[in-house]
Amino acid sequence: GEAAEGRGRGKLILFGEHAVVHGYAAVACGLPLGAVACVRRGHSESFRVDHPAGSFEAEGKVLEAARGIVARFGLRLEELDGFVRLEVPVGAGMGSSAALAVALARAAQKLSGRGDAQTVEEAVSFAEGLFHGKASGIDQSAALGGGVFAFKRDGAGGPPTIEPVRAPTLRLVVAQVAPSASTAEMVASVSALAERRSSTAAIFEAIGQVATEGRQALEAGDLQAVGELMNINQGLLAALGVSIPAIDEACRLARDAGASGVKLTGAGGGGCVVALGPDEATTRAIQEGWEVRGWPVYTFTLES
Ligand code: MEV
Repeated sequence: GEAAEGRGRGKLILFGEHAVVHGYAAVACGLPLGAVACVRRGHSESFRVDHPAGSFEAEGKVLEAARGIVARFGLRLEELDGFVRLEVPVGAGMGSSAALAVALARAAQKLSGRGDAQTVEEAVSFAEGLFHGKASGIDQSAALGGGVFAFKRDGAGGPPTIEPVRAPTLRLVVAQVAPSASTAEMVASVSALAERRSSTAAIFEAIGQVATEGRQALEAGDLQAVGELMNINQGLLAALGVSIPAIDEACRLARDAGASGVKLTGAGGGGCVVALGPDEATTRAIQEGWEVRGWPVYTFTLES
């Protein structure tokens, strides 16, 4: 039969990870890379996921998520022949799981001719809940949309506030400096810290303030201020205990190479760092400095 294709975007959090879970403002952007799902009616014993470092057959939570997603469109995974291709590294803070869920939901919607944008969102929420437990929803907003946006959870459990942010051209360099940590575990450890130490609330507050100022700096086109705020954000994330020596080392290398700013992106404990380059030459120098260390590097020029 006919194959149906769906796409979802990866994401980078520019400001505000972790604090966003606790209700503070954050800023993120959808990436040109993400996930592509392709499904047709047929039969297959397995559901394959290809990614930049190899390929695996869906099992455990991934399989459960894939079954649940297609079921929302009246489909059974066993009666489909398909796969997902990830263009971002798996579980590295670039939103691979949300991109996968959005891609598969959109492909299932096309194939079945059932459901609408709301059904897609519900399917993705279900999958992200499975993967990440108490996730803020910022990943799925990026995977569904794109561009730079501000995000804030609703205190009363209603839908989040999502506002597009007009940003100048951003030259971003991303390196995966360590294997990824579990987002659910990192979120849980930060929440546990917040319960033990009430002073953690002041760190969340400061991160929220950085995100708000970061948004203003983006809208003003002030890249130097954006970078400075990324550096402050990294210091605050380190205070929450989610940085690791490889992340600290990558930040030092990028700053030595002339980065405007650099921070971890995503849940931390491993995964990726993101640097903002002031110009083309510096961006290349950051990239080369990281590649010498053997870290996989991705560069993005985001124009809005
Ligand atoms: C993960 O990409 C970002 C976190 O803030 C978790 C979340 O927002 O769900 C750590």
